[in-house]
Amino acid sequence: MMTFSLTSILRPHIQNLTPYSSARDEYTGTEGVFLDANENPFGPTLDQANAYKVNRYPDPHQWAIKNRLAPIKGVRADQIFLGNGSDEPIDLLVRATCTPGRFAGAADEILIMPPTYGMYEVSATINDVAVTKVPLTPDFQVNLPAVLAAINNKTKLIWLCSPNNPSGNRLQTDAIRAILEVAYHSLVIVDEAYIDFSEEPSWIGELDKYPNLVVLQTFSKAWGLAGLRLGMCFASEELIRVLNKIKPPYNISAPSQALALEALEHEADKEEMVREILRERQILAQNLRSLPSVLVIHPSDANFLLVQFRDASRTFAQLIEHKVIVRDRSNVTLCAGCLRITVGTRAENEQLMDVLRRITDSSDQSPTGVPDDEEEMPSIEDLPLGTGDSAAKPEFVSNA
Ligand SMILES: Cc1ncc(COP(=O)(O)O)c(C=O)c1O
Repeated sequence: MMTFSLTSILRPHIQNLTPYSSARDEYTGTEGVFLDANENPFGPTLDQANAYKVNRYPDPHQWAIKNRLAPIKGVRADQIFLGNGSDEPIDLLVRATCTPGRFAGAADEILIMPPTYGMYEVSATINDVAVTKVPLTPDFQVNLPAVLAAINNKTKLIWLCSPNNPSGNRLQTDAIRAILEVAYHSLVIVDEAYIDFSEEPSWIGELDKYPNLVVLQTFSKAWGLAGLRLGMCFASEELIRVLNKIKPPYNISAPSQALALEALEHEADKEEMVREILRERQILAQNLRSLPSVLVIHPSDANFLLVQFRDASRTFAQLIEHKVIVRDRSNVTLCAGCLRITVGTRAENEQLMDVLRRITDSSDQSPTGVPDDEEEMPSIEDLPLGTGDSAAKPEFVSNA
């Protein structure tokens, strides 16, 4: 690999920024009389909140969580950044590296591979940063020659999502590695929000090999803590220092820190929840396969299924009428006719199936909204779902 230099990627004013120094940066002890941060010494009037000492500002660097996470993830605590959801590091990475000015011509850009998680593009656009799109192939894999051709000296961030949202499959390792080895003037971010549902090893293990690698994970999915808003970013110490410089001082609340720390003591419970979700995913896929309204169930390494229906818009609307809410992805690149369905509890999945069966029974589900060529797909008996092998075997199955 050619030499990577983070300073050549950072915006100059970020390199030279003197960060805000918070009261809790100046004194990091936990004992003492705290008259330094203009807090209220009496505490909140809510009993529940008292348990989290919310009258005091929380640790700005969340060391207790990082020290607990480091051995679990096999990294040094200094290689971890915690954000208000992964959405925070997504935004901070754009702000740290991309000079804005989409219409000025000389500005930086990010590279995304649709269909993928929407916030990469939204964060870039909020920051007035240009977005280059190289769609995935029809089996939702990286179009490597096109990606390599699209990378130029203005490409600051290359976003890869594996397992990918909304398709659910993991991206081929070789393609990610090839990008990491060529894009030495960019940061290559692998978003692993759904990694716990996959047998794929995390890219965290490669951080010391690739200084341009950034890995995102989250407490929002497998850990069952979406309401906490806690995302993890793993990278070189040098990049983590930059993210810490530009984040708001107290970005993770005291209750979030306390609850995440407690959750980390119960990793085995998380693993059990994951196994249950995978079992439910298998059952849900089998049940969906029995519906004539379902055309394709894409292989999934995540806690959701991307499902192509004969009439996605009508199915979506009818589900909503019955208060079952799924995500309509039918207008998204390569996802014509598709709804994205999160795997719920057994009861929730059965409720979904009940409604889908009733919809099917009460209508002819004549094909509309699905391109003709996709209705010609061959029927395959067994679904390769739940194999954790979606990248190696990117075939998909059809009821058409
Ligand atoms: C691929 C991916 N990355 C990141 C996120 C955001 O996660 P967080 O809740 O940590 O902000 C999501 C949320 O759906 C996602 O699908």
